[in-house]
Amino acid sequence: MFDVSKYKENLKTEIFGRKIVILDTVGSTNDDVSAFYEYNGLVLLANRQLNGRGRMGRTWHSDDIDNLYFSFIINNLKLTDITSVALFVSFSLYDVLKKFGSFKIKWPNDIVISKRKVAGILIETKVLDNKLLYAVVGIGVNVNSKNFPEEISNLATSIFSVYKNEISKEELLANFFNTFEFYLLTYLKSNIKINIVERWRQASENINKIIKIKTAEKVEEVIERGIDEDGALIVENMAGNRKKLYYGDILNVNGC
Ligand code: BTN
Repeated sequence: MFDVSKYKENLKTEIFGRKIVILDTVGSTNDDVSAFYEYNGLVLLANRQLNGRGRMGRTWHSDDIDNLYFSFIINNLKLTDITSVALFVSFSLYDVLKKFGSFKIKWPNDIVISKRKVAGILIETKVLDNKLLYAVVGIGVNVNSKNFPEEISNLATSIFSVYKNEISKEELLANFFNTFEFYLLTYLKSNIKINIVERWRQASENINKIIKIKTAEKVEEVIERGIDEDGALIVENMAGNRKKLYYGDILNVNGC
């Protein structure tokens, strides 16, 4: 069970996570939170999802009450803000999780440990007349789960599985919103991006390593060199030429 009063005790935000809807079972929190799109910062949290979705059409395994599955609304952004927001989301999650262990960020926004995923982020947008009506930020964190289905056990893990330590889901969620709101409001009020680029380099799992990257067109082998201010991945080919990638997926060693 999710203890709302413990969550609220830890929440220090003005907007984000203040309104919370908790449901036992949903299809996908990303779909169902849309009904509340007028409420900026509202979060929908579910104990389980029957149709948890990941990036690039993947499934997000979501039937363990010990993990976190939640989505929240942001409805005061411009389309051009989305890449920065994605960076704030992944970095806030990383900032919060790093208190519990040595996690890394895998571009674009996975949190991993020893090459296995502990958290994933799916950001979806609703655009009307070329304007962003709202964005849904969906996050899954494998917090305290003890087992994973055989087919994903070499791709995913949980904080508990690695550190043998039960973590409070309520504190984790509240601290995520505390951090995220600070980054986002600072950016929206003053257009100052907290200096994430350099800290991101230090947090990246693959910095200066050879990676295989899959885009819509092809799979190529490149060296990861960092990100730019908008979150695009800077890569270098074997001839030393650099380019930026705005979309794609870094393949695991086993090609997944
Ligand atoms: C990924 O790494 O591919 C993104 C995974 C995102 C999973 C979360 S769980 C809560 C929210 N609802 C969904 O259906 N997906 C996101």
